[in-house]
Amino acid sequence: MAELSAQFQIRESLLRKALFVFNRSDERGKEQQSKKSGSGPRTHCAETFTTKVWSTATKIVRPWYCPQVLDVQDTARCRVLTMQRVTVRVPAREIKFEIRIDSGLISEIGEAARKALGPGARRAALISNRKVFDLFGEKVLRALRSSGFDVSVWLMKDGEQHKSMRSLEQALTFFSKEGLERNDVVVALGGGVVGDLAGFAAATYLRGVAFIQVPTTLLAQIDASVGGKTGINTAAGKNLVGAFQQPRLVLIDTDTLQTLPQRELTAGWCEAIKQGAAGDRKLFDRTVRLLRSAGTHASNVQHARGMRINLAATIAAHCRFKAAIVSGDEREAIDRSDRRSRKILNFGHTTAHALEAVTNYRRFRHGEAVGYGMMVAAEISKSLGMLKPDELELLRGAVRACGPLPQADDIESDELIGAMKGDKKSVGGQIKWVLLEAVGRARIVDGREVNRRALRKALHDGLQMDVKETI
Ligand SMILES: NC(=O)c1ccc[n+]([C@@H]2O[C@H](COP(=O)([O-])OP(=O)(O)OC[C@H]3O[C@@H](n4cnc5c(N)ncnc54)[C@H](O)[C@@H]3O)[C@@H](O)[C@H]2O)c1
Ligand SMILES: [Zn+2]
Repeated sequence: MAELSAQFQIRESLLRKALFVFNRSDERGKEQQSKKSGSGPRTHCAETFTTKVWSTATKIVRPWYCPQVLDVQDTARCRVLTMQRVTVRVPAREIKFEIRIDSGLISEIGEAARKALGPGARRAALISNRKVFDLFGEKVLRALRSSGFDVSVWLMKDGEQHKSMRSLEQALTFFSKEGLERNDVVVALGGGVVGDLAGFAAATYLRGVAFIQVPTTLLAQIDASVGGKTGINTAAGKNLVGAFQQPRLVLIDTDTLQTLPQRELTAGWCEAIKQGAAGDRKLFDRTVRLLRSAGTHASNVQHARGMRINLAATIAAHCRFKAAIVSGDEREAIDRSDRRSRKILNFGHTTAHALEAVTNYRRFRHGEAVGYGMMVAAEISKSLGMLKPDELELLRGAVRACGPLPQADDIESDELIGAMKGDKKSVGGQIKWVLLEAVGRARIVDGREVNRRALRKALHDGLQMDVKETI
């Protein structure tokens, strides 16, 4: 047992459990086999035995086991243990691709990209920004080059204001100067800004080239990199010009979160709470549990024993949730307003967009504004008699667990209501509110059902946070 445990780098107690489960299921298998064929019991050669125990162990220990020290030979084995995979399908367009999630994955992007693209892809155009490239760029370059890609790099400027027509033009010029061809690939390394711009550039260059996402912010990992929406901002508004371009691979390295500033983490966690609150109570509970046990800062999550896997599994659960919604309603059909429509992902966003607009996009990170937006939507839901007060408190506790938010109770309600009317998500000039019947169950409600007085009160109550919870 000690020898096997050393070979697999698994604690003996877990291996014992794996062997027990393996033996039990193997006994059942043998019985069935001898019933079917009338032959005697099966025997295993040593190699089959090892493989089978390993795969049983994988299933059993995946949630708890966290390899601390790996040597190179064992990396592949430990990947089997720890890596989360989510397969995304968009049946309407016969699209299928994989999201891989684990710590340390960035150095394996070469092999993963080669597998996803096949041998025909020669060039890779890597888009990032200086900050992110300095942190992870070298590893990505090395990995892509070692898998035979001829890589060139373009660094865009950092910040939402550079998700612009000008950056798009620069990216397209870069592709053509580098001689990017139809079989080649664009790789986005960064947060949602890099991902949205690079994705849109890939969608338009030569009417579409392959695209790989390596999201490095929490928000991009659980939200922006899943779903295929790409685009830029114009003078007329945010994300007004864009395309649906599904990536060929999304590679999420949870280690990248270690360098992410606290506010970016809070913003990401708020969007995570949104996904659970809008459509999946279990996902909501799981996210809150992780936040309560590890805190919002990913370095806590990374270092606590077993938490690394928990973080990867939680991110995977979010990707799975979003992928399921997207596969049923990729383009956010205007006439759909059911519980599985993509619109439910806009929970909290009517107020969030208004908060961002009236503060000239300077005070809030988008996810922080969503934190408040969810509270306002929940207050409206309560005032319409849809949501029980204790459910509202549950949501408030979850938003608090995401971390401190910038102050918002000094913003005039009327100004916000004015900004809401110009929101691009309104249909025929009417706001569509995504409200809650319960945490985990959204309902889309026509703006006419929410009177101005109720809206003002909801804004007043929803934008309050204790002073110690604001930054
Ligand atoms: N396509 C979609 O479905 C979708 C969904 C949600 C949001 N978005 C878009 O995503 C954008 C917001 O994305 P975001 O929140 O990732 O912001 P961002 O891309 O601006 O990143 C935030 C900041 O963190 C830095 N950064 C990135 N990774 C880092 C790391 N690992 N360590 C340290 N710093 C790091 C960035 O350089 C930037 O300064 C918005 O433009 C929004 O419209 C798109
Ligand atoms: Zn959002």
